[in-house]
Parts: sequence; C-alpha cells; structure tokens
Amino acid sequence: MAKITFITQDDEQITLEADSGSVMELAVENGIAGIDGDCGGVCSCATCHVHVKPEHQAKVGEASEIEQDMLELDDEANEYSRLCCQIEVSDDIDGVIFKVAH
Ligand code: FES
Repeated sequence: MAKITFITQDDEQITLEADSGSVMELAVENGIAGIDGDCGGVCSCATCHVHVKPEHQAKVGEASEIEQDMLELDDEANEYSRLCCQIEVSDDIDGVIFKVAH
C-alpha cells in the first residue's frame, strides 16, 4: 500500500492510498483536478503531467525517452516533470508528492 499526495493548481492537497495501477488512474478515479488522462495512459497526450517533489525524484525515477519527447512539447515541463500514467503505484513510491502541472 502506498500513500500518494497530489497538490493541485489551487494548492489543494489530496492524499490517496492504492496498491496497484498507475498514478494517473488513481488521480482520474479520484477526480484530481488537472489530471485528465485523455489518451488512456499510452504516453501520447500529456494531460497527466505532474512535477515530482525534488526530494522524491530518486524514488520515482526518470522519464523514459518517449515520455521526454512528449514533455518537450509542454511549456510547463521542467527537470522534475513526469507523465504520471507512466508511473506504477507500488510501495516504492509510498509518501511521494506530485504537483499537478496544469
Ligand atoms: S494519460 Fe496521456 S500521456 Fe499520460
């Protein structure tokens, strides 16, 4: 079981628990504002863009090459950007905080 926190553009902080699926699915199922998951999780829309808290980046890992290519098209992208459909929920990311990028 992992506890995952989202911070929305309105600075609302929402902590959810899950043990499987992607971070995007968790966000969409729980109506997190700003995470739409339009492409269904196949890394082709960037509507699941989040910024990982810098101190949590090592836990979450780096974006893949395909993911980076998508992120390059997004003005809000920075070194802490991830597309959260590409992040699997597991105990490894327990306690991680994601700031919604849009
Ligand atoms: S849901 Fe489309 S890129 Fe993540």
